[in-house]
Amino acid sequence: MIKLSPSILSADFVNLERDIRALSPAGADYVHVDVMDGLFVPNITIGIPVVAAIRRITELPLDVHLMIDRPIRYVEDFCKAGSDILTIHVEADTEENTLTALKRIRELGVKAAISVKPRTPAEAVLPFLPYCDLILVMTVEPGFGGQAFMEDMMPKLKQIRQWIDLHNPQCELEVDGGVNVETGKICCQNGANVLVAGSAFFKSADPAAFAVKVKHPEL
Ligand code: DX5
Ligand code: ZN
Repeated sequence: MIKLSPSILSADFVNLERDIRALSPAGADYVHVDVMDGLFVPNITIGIPVVAAIRRITELPLDVHLMIDRPIRYVEDFCKAGSDILTIHVEADTEENTLTALKRIRELGVKAAISVKPRTPAEAVLPFLPYCDLILVMTVEPGFGGQAFMEDMMPKLKQIRQWIDLHNPQCELEVDGGVNVETGKICCQNGANVLVAGSAFFKSADPAAFAVKVKHPEL
């Protein structure tokens, strides 16, 4: 089964509650929350109090994507704010600190995840695979919604799918960036089972119909 995780970066922030409450009826499986610090990526978005506020208005799992430097400093706060899946970037700290952060996330009862930027090779996930509940492959440079899908990430996605099936089959494989009905299908063919979609979902005239199409690439 393919899951859809709409990125609220493309929601209407004036009407964030309305847009989040509409997600479950529209067929979303997760709520993707993009946290940016202006250092790890050249953009600043939202932080801990907003995650805590979103927690109060939805039952959907919160899929929180931290694009911040040295996330170990904040994983506890984001877990306590109500994250269900907490993703940190392998490029954001040393291997040792990344491992410590992943273990801490799991100790707090939250699913631990890592993400790789487009220029980071597939091999970078290997030391962390046993400690991950999800791996996120970026199909754009992190920082902004609405960018073009990088199809050249598909060999990396496929390779990571093979390693997941061999070493940690419970682990989910998510893609993020430029996902629409067409590119989502390509991602599923290459092993993804969770699709993040920001602009394609929120700018769709019929988000529920978009969700059906993107979650059923076989149709
Ligand atoms: C980009 C974010 C994405 C972004 C996706 O750095 O991690 O989650 O919101 O937006 P779209 O689907 O528009 O590429
Ligand atoms: Zn994201």
